Amino acid sequence: MTTDLLHDDFERRLIENTQPIRFFFLASALHHALDLGLVAELERRPGTQEQDLAESLGLDAHRTGALLRFLRNEGYTTLIANGGWALSPKGREVQTFAPWYEMLVGGYALSMEQLGEVVRDGTRYAQRDTTKVGEGSCGIGRYDALPLVEQLLDQVKGAGEPDTIVDLGCGDGSFVMDLLVNRPDLNGIGVEPHAGSVELGERRRAELGLGDRMRLAQGAAHDALKLDLPEGGRGICFMTAFVLQEVMQQQGQQAIEDLLASAFKLYPEARWLVVEMDHQPLAPVMGTHGLAQTFYNPYFLIHAATEQRLETRSWWDEMFARLGLTTEAVANPDPRADSTGLQFGMVLKKS
Ligand SMILES: C[S@@+](CC[C@H](N)C(=O)[O-])C[C@H]1O[C@@H](n2cnc3c(N)ncnc32)[C@H](O)[C@@H]1O
Repeated sequence: MTTDLLHDDFERRLIENTQPIRFFFLASALHHALDLGLVAELERRPGTQEQDLAESLGLDAHRTGALLRFLRNEGYTTLIANGGWALSPKGREVQTFAPWYEMLVGGYALSMEQLGEVVRDGTRYAQRDTTKVGEGSCGIGRYDALPLVEQLLDQVKGAGEPDTIVDLGCGDGSFVMDLLVNRPDLNGIGVEPHAGSVELGERRRAELGLGDRMRLAQGAAHDALKLDLPEGGRGICFMTAFVLQEVMQQQGQQAIEDLLASAFKLYPEARWLVVEMDHQPLAPVMGTHGLAQTFYNPYFLIHAATEQRLETRSWWDEMFARLGLTTEAVANPDPRADSTGLQFGMVLKKS
């Protein structure tokens, strides 16, 4: 019976069919090696023995060794002549992409673990690590959303540059703080419901020496209405980058419409900068484009499982038009970072 199961190409088929399992373990191992600081320590001190590496990072030596050996077999670390460890070129290269691991693996591994439960029970949401999602998202944004926002701000310059960005759902605030570093005349206010992210943001604000150019407050998007902003909102640009999708599922479409309507009533001279994803999980690009397969396909799945709701770009356009808002500028990310056309940004103002 057993031998009947073992056709001569069984092992080849076994290997082929278990590749996704290999990558599941690899993604998780890489995330942890990056998050624990192991990759950075190897970069800093190549040739270090595993005992020494573990000690300097406060880790268990036996398990640190197991992780290093696993990564060696996947080509990320190498054992060198003195028995010490170093990064391979692939191990050095992956550091640039740490934010994608932080958001998709660190932030959403728990959600994927619960996928079966929430597919069965549509009334529940899968949990996620919100601090890691926020921090990872800001890190990714440095390559796509930040240059996109810079493009938008350049486009509206002629009609008067904003002097303050009010970043609602700012995560760890690094996104808006990077903008402030690039634009010395700009001030920032970050509003974020998660205490862990606000704490990270305060640390970053101090590290960057931004002083009173940057303020952080704990709160939700609708708390924007309680901030002490200049009369009429002159010079103010609210920003929601990947945040309306959160409010959409938590509070519904009406809450977003109320928020935008109230904000523009209170601050008619303000602008509102939106960055969102065009929810197109069946677009042709999804089956053909590398970034659609490595990033957007997991992204679309995970948003259906957690307390977030993506909509199409035309859905958002219709809502903004219904609210009497006009689009002052539109942009997509630099195609060198993302050429899928699925991420978009716009600046809205009251007609
Ligand atoms: C995907 S992250 C985006 C972070 C950042 N804006 C960026 O562009 O990288 C979504 C953020 O929205 C925050 N958030 C969730 N619900 C919110 C709400 N009702 N109001 C404001 N922010 C919210 C989350 O805590 C998280 O930091």
